[in-house]
Amino acid sequence: MALNRLTPQTPFRHDVLIVGSGAAGLSLALRLREDISVALISKRELTEGSTLYAQGGISAVLDAKDSVESHLQDTLKAGAGLCEPKVVRFVVERGPDNIRWLLDQGVEFTRDEGDESAGGYHLTREGGHTHRRVVHAADATGRAVATTLDAQVRAKPSVTLYEQHIAIDLITSRHLPGDKTHRCLGAYILDLASGQVETFLARFVVLATGGANKVYLYTSNPDVSTGDGIAMAWRAGCRVANMEFMQFHPTCLYHPEARSFLITEALRGEGARLLLPNGERFMPRFDARAELAPRDIVARAIDHEMKRLGTDSVYLDISHRSADFILEHFPTVHGRCRDLGLDITRGPIPVVPAAHYTCGGVMVDRHARTDLPGLYASGETAYTGLHGANRMASNSLLECLVYSESAAQDIERLLKQYPHPPEAPRWDESRLTEPDEEVVVTHNWDELRRFMWDYVGIVRTTKRLRRAKRRADLLAQEIIEYYSHFRIGNDLVELRNLVEVADLIIQSALRRRESRGLHFTLDFRFKDRTQRTPTILIPDSYQPRSGN
Ligand code: FAD
Ligand code: SIN
Repeated sequence: MALNRLTPQTPFRHDVLIVGSGAAGLSLALRLREDISVALISKRELTEGSTLYAQGGISAVLDAKDSVESHLQDTLKAGAGLCEPKVVRFVVERGPDNIRWLLDQGVEFTRDEGDESAGGYHLTREGGHTHRRVVHAADATGRAVATTLDAQVRAKPSVTLYEQHIAIDLITSRHLPGDKTHRCLGAYILDLASGQVETFLARFVVLATGGANKVYLYTSNPDVSTGDGIAMAWRAGCRVANMEFMQFHPTCLYHPEARSFLITEALRGEGARLLLPNGERFMPRFDARAELAPRDIVARAIDHEMKRLGTDSVYLDISHRSADFILEHFPTVHGRCRDLGLDITRGPIPVVPAAHYTCGGVMVDRHARTDLPGLYASGETAYTGLHGANRMASNSLLECLVYSESAAQDIERLLKQYPHPPEAPRWDESRLTEPDEEVVVTHNWDELRRFMWDYVGIVRTTKRLRRAKRRADLLAQEIIEYYSHFRIGNDLVELRNLVEVADLIIQSALRRRESRGLHFTLDFRFKDRTQRTPTILIPDSYQPRSGN
């Protein structure tokens, strides 16, 4: 890791600027050649992001009895007719190699000493998968991946780390008067320690900022998931797709002190059952696959039962498995529940659905290229076509790895065609003052997340979506006014992005006049074959890409 010695007045220059340090950002930084200088930007410490909290694992065809065809078909089925089959094949075929790459980096997955059919690794099952194909590190797979890649990237001299730095906006050729090129040149980045906005210039910029699930009041995601990359790309003229498909994970712990704690789907993969407060098992009434149906179906069934009975939660029970098995496979879930006075080895625990994953995002091609030359997106920020209308469990980390590998190869191929950018205008705050009412930001933040939960959640109606749109428009006006008068801080950057992304979600949901996958509306209750296409939103500043 190189040290950063530049003064705030000098623009920071690198070959590649990666914004975000989850599985997508870290793996890309490690994949790029040693002679390519990389700036890796992270708005908190390097490992903080959804990747760190991933529990279940990573799907890949590793068992001799499994096949690419089966992984492909399961993904297509979970995606409710909206996955791009060629993209699914592209990702699934690259699964085993990417798992080998993680092993080479030093990630230690759980082994199954008695069974060599998957190279000696234990494979678990999750919803939608017809085979055991999820490789994992007990129930803390993300921690194993994030901490291992973190250590590797810190040891790589060509990567300069900028933690506690938040990207505000992209710099494009439009910022240069008279410039006729169409290209991304860098980003304006706020150093959270000094309060200075710095200019970062690079030949290539990669958005790896994760999802936007903090737009909802209840979420499994950490605070950093505020859709920054999606909002930045949209403002820079890139198309976004399928934003109506926000995934709600069926089982987050329901406890006043357990903010955002996920109960991994692998529990259900290993036999856990969903129960009503009276102990009745209900999933078989909704789907023949019962607890292992895809997430959209399970989350909607729970929502339905909670509303029908007027209860605050349903229950998840794995206590019929032996305590030894539970402790070996689910030490994280067991430990967290025990700290809260719940024992999963002895009885059911209360669970509720919560916003979990952003299936849509910035449109990219097979090389992770966006519409803006020089700008890439990888991971949860991107829309690749893999997930369709509902992501299958454990396909996300796989997508991060595959698309970051692709982006690295493409960047290396195009390096000579992308010269270092010229100077760019500095960020000008000379006419701005210190914010006078921080409460405006806090209040708007709370209001946004609550109305998104109430009106744009698991079950939607056109009336509720329109109500949400009016509120989002009002908030957007207030934020623009606030933004143009006051000095920027972390919360304002995030709120501005969340409002932007909320609007994209609502607009997309209003356009889809059917129910499909994660988008369920009481006004159009069924799938409509004529709407079997992604929802693509095009910004006013969109310019079609020509050439590389
Ligand atoms: P993240 O890991 O979220 O990283 C985003 C990074 O961007 C962070 O470093 C953040 O600080 C940074 N960032 C964001 N905005 C800015 C900005 N403006 N400036 C600078 N930095 C910024 N998927 C699976 O496949 N298997 C699982 O078992 C699994 N379990 C999950 C469990 C939980 C609790 C959660 C929340 C998700 C889970 N998922 C799982 C989904 C998966 O973890 C995520 O989709 C994936 O980790 C996303 O990786 P990423 O690199 O795209 O983003
Ligand atoms: C989980 O472990 O249940 C989460 C898996 C995922 O989101 O892919």
